[in-house]
Amino acid sequence: MPGTILIGTQWGDEGKGKICDLLAGDMDMVVRFQGGDNAGHTVEVGNTTLKLHHIPSGIMYPKTICIIGDGMLLNPEVLIGEMTYLESLKISTDNLIISSNAHLIMPYHIILDREGEMRLGSAKIGTTKKGIGPAYADKAKRIGIRVQDLLDEKIFEKKVVTSLEEKNEILTKIYNVEPMEANEILTEYREYTLRLKSHIRNTSLMINEGLERGDNILFEGAQGTLLDLDHGTYPFVTSSSTVAGGACGGAGVGPLKIDHVYGVAKAYVTRVGSGPFPTEDTGDIGDAMRDIGVEYGTTTGRPRRCGWFDAVLLRYAIRLNGLDGLALTKLDVLSQFDTIKICTQYRHGGETYEEFPPHQSIFHKVEPVYEEMPGWKADISGATKLEDLPKACRDYIDRIKELGKVPFKVISVGSERDQTIIL
Ligand code: GDP
Ligand code: IMO
Ligand code: MG
Repeated sequence: MPGTILIGTQWGDEGKGKICDLLAGDMDMVVRFQGGDNAGHTVEVGNTTLKLHHIPSGIMYPKTICIIGDGMLLNPEVLIGEMTYLESLKISTDNLIISSNAHLIMPYHIILDREGEMRLGSAKIGTTKKGIGPAYADKAKRIGIRVQDLLDEKIFEKKVVTSLEEKNEILTKIYNVEPMEANEILTEYREYTLRLKSHIRNTSLMINEGLERGDNILFEGAQGTLLDLDHGTYPFVTSSSTVAGGACGGAGVGPLKIDHVYGVAKAYVTRVGSGPFPTEDTGDIGDAMRDIGVEYGTTTGRPRRCGWFDAVLLRYAIRLNGLDGLALTKLDVLSQFDTIKICTQYRHGGETYEEFPPHQSIFHKVEPVYEEMPGWKADISGATKLEDLPKACRDYIDRIKELGKVPFKVISVGSERDQTIIL
């Protein structure tokens, strides 16, 4: 199974970190291909809980090479913080490799993200305020600064000075905030370069050589399908291609090198930030899901909005990503509910929608059509095989399988690595 892509099928936080860590035991490399430190992936093994933002979720395995790919953004200060934290836990970062093509998040991107959101007022996206939108915008405008620029002090200085000429105009004249000093940024980033430079490589070459050798390589998505810049709930999305197709561009591999595309789906749905969410429950059910599932943002600590499983979104994710396997996570969180609902279609203006509606204006207004199933009301967090699950729980899984028509590979019943049913 040389090339496998793992992506989120909802609005992020599906438990990609846990599933990636689980699969990474058999992987020679784990590659992140988009996003930056807006991601927060949790890996729990024994007494250790890692909250990873840039670093791929295979880092617990000493032999697995972890790659920050071409399509990623990188905030060097945050990345160095993550590396130092891992090293304090005796987890080596020697195998962490950074693409020279990845773009840098600069201090002004973070301020522009914050100020831009403030200006939008009630129309704000609810970003993580990590500078993601402004940094990807600079990349698309071809005025971004890349990791490789760190390696040549003259080029880096020129790019920072040029960039600040425009950015300081925007900061002072549009947002009425203090301008930034090039020298401060240069001094700060010089230190980061010293720390990071031995990790910088041509990662596309490494990955393709690995694939040629028959290495197992996992491409770890961040965010989720509904946050994709093209296919998500625009404009309430992130600024990168989060779908499986994005892995090839963001890691520098051809599509024929990919053997499997697995999706991660939470047994219910959550979302952080603004934007439409048809099955959102703003009452007791949603509160209970948040409490039991500890649904608070890994990156920002914000409470996540919660609601029942949405099979229309699942079908959309299957289509966009070409999924051939699914991991269902956090099933244990539903154990306390008397009845469980699944949204099977939407309704709006006398029409029903089995598939994701063609326009956002419809998606904003749709009402979910639910099927109701009995809950199982039993602790399943120790289950290791399908037969350990109560009948009502297996019926719930079977119904999702029927609605999605994709085989399940993994069912997760707890945050620990071994709280997992492998199918
Ligand atoms: P990611 O961004 O997709 O990697 O997901 P996050 O790490 O942001 O959020 C998922 C949260 O659920 C983390 O706190 C995980 O430790 C936790 N988690 C993952 N799988 C399970 C599960 O099956 N059951 C429970 N109860 N928690 C889980
Ligand atoms: P992981 O990888 C959940 C959301 C933000 C906001 C929108 C845009 O942990 O699943 P951005 O800062 O990217 O410009 O914010 O996207 N968002 C996430 N939501 N999990 C994430 O990552 C997210 N990364 C971004 O909340 O709605
Ligand atoms: Mg997360």
